[in-house]
Amino acid sequence: MATNGSLGRKLRMALVGGGQGSFIGRVHVTAAVLDNRAVLVAGALSSDPARAKASAADYDIDASRAYGSYEELFDKERLRPDPIDFVSIATPNHMHFPVAKAAIKAGFHVICDKPLTLTLAEAEALASLVNASSVIFAVTHNYTGYPLVRQARQMILSGELGDIQAVRSSYIQGWLRTRLESEGHKQAAWRTDPTKSGEAGAFGDIGTHAYNLGRYMTGLLPEKISANLKVFEPPRSLDDYGHAVIRYENGALGTVTASQISHGRENDVRIEIDGTLASLEWHQENPNQLFIRRNGHPHSIYTRDPNAPFTNEAGKAACRLPSGHPEAFFEAFANVYRSAFDAMADRAAGLPVEKINTVYPNVCDGVEGMYFITQSVASSKADGAWLPMRHPLARR
Ligand SMILES: NC(=O)c1ccc[n+]([C@@H]2O[C@H](COP(=O)([O-])OP(=O)(O)OC[C@H]3O[C@@H](n4cnc5c(N)ncnc54)[C@H](O)[C@@H]3O)[C@@H](O)[C@H]2O)c1
Repeated sequence: MATNGSLGRKLRMALVGGGQGSFIGRVHVTAAVLDNRAVLVAGALSSDPARAKASAADYDIDASRAYGSYEELFDKERLRPDPIDFVSIATPNHMHFPVAKAAIKAGFHVICDKPLTLTLAEAEALASLVNASSVIFAVTHNYTGYPLVRQARQMILSGELGDIQAVRSSYIQGWLRTRLESEGHKQAAWRTDPTKSGEAGAFGDIGTHAYNLGRYMTGLLPEKISANLKVFEPPRSLDDYGHAVIRYENGALGTVTASQISHGRENDVRIEIDGTLASLEWHQENPNQLFIRRNGHPHSIYTRDPNAPFTNEAGKAACRLPSGHPEAFFEAFANVYRSAFDAMADRAAGLPVEKINTVYPNVCDGVEGMYFITQSVASSKADGAWLPMRHPLARR
């Protein structure tokens, strides 16, 4: 078993969501166990109690710990001599807040998917609960876990690109080009329903990832935002396309574009950053290459290589395989888990907060994602008006 510090055992995981026919729950479990530091022991896997219990066998969860609801999960686990250590929340957005709140109340660490909650008010309430507790709270902005994203972040923070002046990030998909939500497509149905998705569609679902990536890589704090969101497949009520312009503290300009209606596009998360000394470009559909360019020099392609002299400490620490063996979505997701597990182990060892790693996206980043949604929707309704974008909880 890889180390969990003074705990000396694997962390015990519960999953909420992830039942039969769902998507991201299985990814959470795969990521959690990749380094052999956690074991899935319990779950409340579906909104339907019968399906929740029926889904447990797919994960080898013992029937005695296959619960019909998240309330039952926390009530029963709390009383066990070997309770869970943490819960992963892989439900549609509207359930993140009640499940996370109940988990914190029961004293369990939380790994929650994005966007953090249904509303900004819920997100802020959650941050207060986390700050008043001793739980570790991670948000799976999983693109931050790619080795070359971590490499780029360290390069930028150490000044290798000079002053950052422009950040262009986008997340382009095409799967909602038609109204799949009217054809019984489960994932499309809740994502286009404001009571389950929140006040944004594409901008909340994938725009938050693109925004977070720019913030994570540059550490620049935002000042103002102006956005235009559109529905191109009416009568859908939530945006399926949109863009925002962001002014950062140092005068840098950022753009975020999110689309779910671009023919043929899959999960094209990409970012380009211009500094005074160099520019960079990274695409998640080709995640093991990072392009660095300097005028007058040949273009450089950094590959994901834990042994190369050009790979910095952050990049090396995020690799699992030798270069040339592709690492991708699962491994990046697992890197968020790895940093959160380190934090849980440090918490168990009694380390003070300031000594615990802050590499993983946390509840503050989740709040900022909700602020991004709220301000983008408000700006778009006001014909692209410039609105404040610096949330008091925003961190570098
Ligand atoms: N980080 C990423 O890359 C990424 C990718 C996809 C989805 N997501 C996020 O993950 C979440 C789930 O998305 P998905 O595509 O897997 O959705 P999905 O519809 O495929 O699965 C949702 C699951 O949650 C279950 N569920 C609903 N209410 C529940 C309740 N009260 N108790 C227990 N289970 C309940 C459903 O039965 C289903 O099994 C969303 O918040 C989404 O934004 C993140």
